[in-house]
Amino acid sequence: MAERARVAIFISGRGSNMAALIYAAKHEECPFEVVLVASNDPEARGIALARAEGIDTFVQSHKGHERAAFDEIMEHAARDAGADYIVLAGYMRILSEAFVSRWKGRMLNIHPSLLPKYPGLDTYARAIEAGDSLSGCTVHLVTGELDSGPILGQTEVAILPDDTPDRLASRILIAEHQLYPRVLADYVSRELDPDWLVQKVGELALELPETHARTSHGAPGWRVGTEKSGKFFAYVSIHHHGEETVALLVKTSGPDEMAALIEAEPDLYYKPAYYGASGWIAVRLDTGTVDWDHIAGWLRKSWSAVAPKKISGLIAVAEEF
Ligand code: GRF
Repeated sequence: MAERARVAIFISGRGSNMAALIYAAKHEECPFEVVLVASNDPEARGIALARAEGIDTFVQSHKGHERAAFDEIMEHAARDAGADYIVLAGYMRILSEAFVSRWKGRMLNIHPSLLPKYPGLDTYARAIEAGDSLSGCTVHLVTGELDSGPILGQTEVAILPDDTPDRLASRILIAEHQLYPRVLADYVSRELDPDWLVQKVGELALELPETHARTSHGAPGWRVGTEKSGKFFAYVSIHHHGEETVALLVKTSGPDEMAALIEAEPDLYYKPAYYGASGWIAVRLDTGTVDWDHIAGWLRKSWSAVAPKKISGLIAVAEEF
């Protein structure tokens, strides 16, 4: 199994969703591990539980700190713990935009309503008062706007005729505890799915001028130029020639650059079978934590290396990226 995604959980109180995530991560096939539980409230009950489970904790009151400065303190703790993802679980803070944008696509939240209905507080009472027959919970990516990022998963929970907000809350909580670990597991695993990786590389490759997709000996590839005479600038190699890896193949300037890259980062780069001889390097995509800006940079560089002059003038490519 690939390395497990490293998750930092931010809480402010009870921490029952945190507990559900910790217990889910005990299963040996769970694709994430909880590397840190952090709280802005020294009294948060979840902290004692996390400690008892042997998980590193970080506690820092937000009082007396500017919002952005406090976010940086929490973020620092997450980075120190080597977190790939930040998972908010009852974390009662509005987050600064800069913090949110630094974790774009890597920060999740759970909310006790069927978003986009009832963002914010008092979701149970609002659903009951509105006469809704259904409520539920939502896991979504965190964006700059409160409770409104892309939805990753939802569970519907029926509202009973005599429901009170508390009774409804306790049933929604049961649904939350099942939903969050499952959605998080699926989300962190998406980057291990070759189809998802090919789609993602394709999106980036086709953003470059005059490009199209074309398979080559069964491998997904992308070319620059016309359909008739275009040249390949990228391939995705999926367990090619018995290799265990899924990797992006892109063109280097030659054997020296290739050797230097492989020596500097042997876990990321390798010389692919056959293609390696003509200057193609393999950049691993099966790490679970791909740096997509880095991949986009490689695609641009490779595109420039093979594009005919009249097209390659269309974009300036930085030497370093
Ligand atoms: C949950 O209802 C969650 O949806 C909301 O805050 C509550 C946190 O509960 N964001 P807990 O701390 O996980 O028990």
